[in-house]
Amino acid sequence: MTLNNSFLQLLQESQIITAAVAVFTIIGALFILSKTLSFLKLIVDVFVLPGKDLKEFGAGQGAWAVVTGASDGIGREYAMQLAAAKFNILMVSRTASKLKALRDEIESKYKVDTRMYAMDFTKGDRMDYSNLRDIIEELDVGVLVNNVATNHEIPTPFYLEDDEIIHNIVEVNIAGLLKVTKIALSKMLPKNRGLIINVGSFSGTIPTPYLSVYSGSKAFMNAWSQAIGAELNSKGILVENVNTYFVVSAMSKIRKPSLLIPLPGPYVKSVLSKIGIPGGASYYPFNSNTYPSHALVNWLITNTLSWSFWVNYTLEGIINETFEQGRVRP
Ligand SMILES: NC(=O)c1ccc[n+]([C@@H]2O[C@H](COP(=O)([O-])OP(=O)(O)OC[C@H]3O[C@@H](n4cnc5c(N)ncnc54)[C@H](OP(=O)(O)O)[C@@H]3O)[C@@H](O)[C@H]2O)c1
Repeated sequence: MTLNNSFLQLLQESQIITAAVAVFTIIGALFILSKTLSFLKLIVDVFVLPGKDLKEFGAGQGAWAVVTGASDGIGREYAMQLAAAKFNILMVSRTASKLKALRDEIESKYKVDTRMYAMDFTKGDRMDYSNLRDIIEELDVGVLVNNVATNHEIPTPFYLEDDEIIHNIVEVNIAGLLKVTKIALSKMLPKNRGLIINVGSFSGTIPTPYLSVYSGSKAFMNAWSQAIGAELNSKGILVENVNTYFVVSAMSKIRKPSLLIPLPGPYVKSVLSKIGIPGGASYYPFNSNTYPSHALVNWLITNTLSWSFWVNYTLEGIINETFEQGRVRP
């Protein structure tokens, strides 16, 4: 009797263990399957699927692309490549002489109409926004590229950062973003057509210590893009927070391209050829990341280790690469 009981108990226990193993195996298999499918989708997105045709946003039909921070780096490439796609270009940036040179180059190369407006976004000058509104009022706006941004000069502890630098980042990266977008939307909404490319940053996804205000401003851009992306989706306006990793430019202070750090030209080409495709950024709605090596890195970051791991990884990287070389303020 006792032998029978303990045999039954053993049998029951082993059945429970078998059932538990089966449940965990199924959960594990589903987890691996979902990650595998997500990875396959990344490959198809980046290497197979074509993006939306820019004609949907008025290319070649007299529509305008408004590009902020257009006189250099990534913004300059957006202006050039959107002109090559036959948008007329309104370029807005700080240095008038650089804008004039770009305007001449675009007009002679691509035979499209151009307008330019020089303003310093750090000033938050009402007159500038009013002038910009007057210019945009006359245009059929198909695309807005919110590209202008400013950053900390060097990695700096938040409590030691200059108030002026903090003010400038908020004024350019957040206030300017909101004001220009509202102006452009006033022209897009009546037509139920538009593309808003928000030039985001990986530091808006992974909070970046010692570049905290810039990182926070790009996190704002990311969350806000998702919110207005959902609001505007049914109105024919596509919003994309383009999760940008390192690109050769004055802001990145990187001069030499590599597998992970492209020149602005190929980088912007990869964005404009894949509009509407999330690539490595499928973790968030209304986000995209389609430059192949960046897409892979972004996918790995959002699909593997924990968020606190990546924040600490960034912290260690900045401490090792900048602080220890004495490149940070005391
Ligand atoms: N490069 C990267 O590795 C990287 C990585 C992630 C995200 N991003 C994002 O990409 C965007 C473009 O960056 P970038 O690297 O191309 O920068 P960039 O080469 O330094 O160009 C910045 C552009 O913005 C203009 N600008 C800067 N401050 C301004 C102000 N206060 N008022 C008006 N215009 C101003 C500059 O005008 P001037 O010609 O007068 O200087 C220039 O045209 C930014 O949103 C940045 O956050 C870049």
